[in-house]
Amino acid sequence: MRVVSVVGARPNFVKLAPVAEALAQHQSVEHVIVHTGQHYDAFMSESFFAELALPQPSHNLGVGAGSHALQTAAVLERFEPLCRTLQPDWVLVYGDVNSTLAAALTAAKLDIPVAHVEAGLRSRDRTMPEEHNRVLTDHLSTLLFTPSPDAGDNLRREGIPDEAIAFVGNVMIDSLVNILPRAHALGAERTLGLDKGRYVLVTLHRPSNVDDPSTLRELCAALVELQRERPVVFAVHPRTRARLDECGLRALLGDVRLLEPQPYTTMIGLTASAGLVITDSGGVQEETTYLGIPCLTVRQNTERPITVTHGTNRLVAPERDAILEAARSHAVSPGPRSIERWDGRAAERLVELLLDAGRR
Ligand code: UD1
Repeated sequence: MRVVSVVGARPNFVKLAPVAEALAQHQSVEHVIVHTGQHYDAFMSESFFAELALPQPSHNLGVGAGSHALQTAAVLERFEPLCRTLQPDWVLVYGDVNSTLAAALTAAKLDIPVAHVEAGLRSRDRTMPEEHNRVLTDHLSTLLFTPSPDAGDNLRREGIPDEAIAFVGNVMIDSLVNILPRAHALGAERTLGLDKGRYVLVTLHRPSNVDDPSTLRELCAALVELQRERPVVFAVHPRTRARLDECGLRALLGDVRLLEPQPYTTMIGLTASAGLVITDSGGVQEETTYLGIPCLTVRQNTERPITVTHGTNRLVAPERDAILEAARSHAVSPGPRSIERWDGRAAERLVELLLDAGRR
């Protein structure tokens, strides 16, 4: 059985790692990894392959940066001939990035079954590029692996048959569980001179937050104000760094500590030891919930509502005063949250089901 995994962006690599490991346990499976090249910098891509002990991709489509249409089209154009050559039994796609949708569409049009890892999440916000990717990918997929019960409910409501949906749990948490001992041992917060539980960790990269200069200015103002109360460490995504420079906002950030995008182990270590995390990432909402770290998500909605209802996450508007008020009041009782099937074994369940479906 030949399984082709297609990944392109940083969060995809974290989801791929436990699946690749679980597939490697089965000698009957040949697992081919295709990297679209959507993320290409060493710190957005290579460092993740190294730290997650992922096999090197067999193919890199080299699509790089571009508009949504160009990026999606480049994957379609370059993955199709490869897919024809590889003739996979399954194409596995991960999450909600442009590479996910493009690979799913390519395979579906070639009549190759697609399995979607992290299916069924919905923000119901169509201004978010990822929401289109989620909905379309799910409707192109034969098998839909969901991380939480709400995701299955969303799919059933959209008419996806029950037998196509499998609640396997959260593969991102599999990777977190694996790396956590190493992350603690690394002590990244000590290296940065930070005290455990006494600093704020920030990641922001959504177009809705960073592409509009007035919104970005509000966010920077909030961070500068918070920095007066406790250290603020900001791991800056390349998109955000470019916008900060274009808007001349970098100098305004004063003593806020700006870091490059961090390697996975370091980032998990910094998250696990933070007093508060401010983010607009999807994965970070889940990681903070699992770790029991208070999290403010600077968005109007989330496709991961379980992190709010059962976890440590709170949504906050992208406004200075709203963020400050929320940062000062959002204290949750510490300790990891127990969420069903966020237990480090989601990929194992997923691979068993995939092999089972392949045998039929
Ligand atoms: C993408 C995903 C988003 C995910 C994020 C994780 C889509 C629609 N968005 O957003 O869901 O949360 O990845 O990081 O697929 N760049 C670099 N080096 C890189 C990669 C990107 O400098 O290795 C810069 C480029 O200037 C590029 C910009 O970052 O134009 C944005 O990259 P892109 O892949 O378009 O989307 P992300 O914002 O990273």
